[in-house]
Amino acid sequence: MENMQNKVALVTGAAQGIGYATAQLFAEYGAKVVLADYNEELVNKAAQQLTDKGFEALAIKCDVSKEEEVKAMVEKIVKEFSRLDYAFNNAGIQNILAEAADQTKEDFDRVISVNLKGVWSCMKYELQQMRKQGFGAIVNCSSIGGILGGAMRGTYHAAKHGIIGLTKSAALEYAPMGIRINTICPGMIYTPMAEKMIEGGQKEALEAMLKTVPVKRYGQPEEMANVVVWLCSDSASFVVGHTLVADGGYSIQ
Ligand SMILES: NC(=O)c1ccc[n+]([C@@H]2O[C@H](COP(=O)([O-])OP(=O)(O)OC[C@H]3O[C@@H](n4cnc5c(N)ncnc54)[C@H](O)[C@@H]3O)[C@@H](O)[C@H]2O)c1
Repeated sequence: MENMQNKVALVTGAAQGIGYATAQLFAEYGAKVVLADYNEELVNKAAQQLTDKGFEALAIKCDVSKEEEVKAMVEKIVKEFSRLDYAFNNAGIQNILAEAADQTKEDFDRVISVNLKGVWSCMKYELQQMRKQGFGAIVNCSSIGGILGGAMRGTYHAAKHGIIGLTKSAALEYAPMGIRINTICPGMIYTPMAEKMIEGGQKEALEAMLKTVPVKRYGQPEEMANVVVWLCSDSASFVVGHTLVADGGYSIQ
């Protein structure tokens, strides 16, 4: 893959898990990285870890569900680096498990505002800068929940399906301007989110699901990072509006 020196990469939800692994890989390819997260303490620590390894990393506290914070985040990046080349809109949360008749409006609003509206507003402000540059690549983080149904997980799946529609539509608008936008759909990846689900009583359900994954294991955050960084690189120059599923074969059965 090409050198990403002098490029600037933003990752949301970068304090841990898939986001952190991706920020680190962008940095290993030479990019300056911006780690954004609503957990200020954790994201500062994450950026410091990368700085300690000799990479250029900036932490920004940003709750992606708040449009004004997203706007301020992109303004800060442009002020600091004068450009934004790559963005991985990764921040996401799980819904409270409940069947459709029992889901609350509060949880619907919470999940949609982070997982769908968050991606929408991140794209909006990232694209305002990329449009000026005539260059950029964005990857939005959906899930196998974006292509499959999931009992008790309707709001999460609705948001993740929505991301694919947002991505394809924006990809059509911006491809002629030299900006590529794609989606990834991770399968079961071992991150703090997975650990939280296990602690929250979903251990048996996850183990049962794992048995049906053809590769018979969890994916690692680094395996998602490889996909995201490749999609942003010039190696993927003809890949536009694509939904890339990286799930160990789970969804092809
Ligand atoms: N782990 C999996 O198995 C899996 C599978 C499919 C899709 N995904 C998706 O991948 C993405 C990352 O998942 P992960 O497993 O690394 O999760 P994680 O919970 O380990 O990390 C998510 C990060 O996002 C941050 N975050 C949450 N809400 C935010 C907000 N409103 N604003 C800014 N930051 C916020 C958290 O603080 C955290 O640092 C999510 O969008 C998730 O839905 C994960």
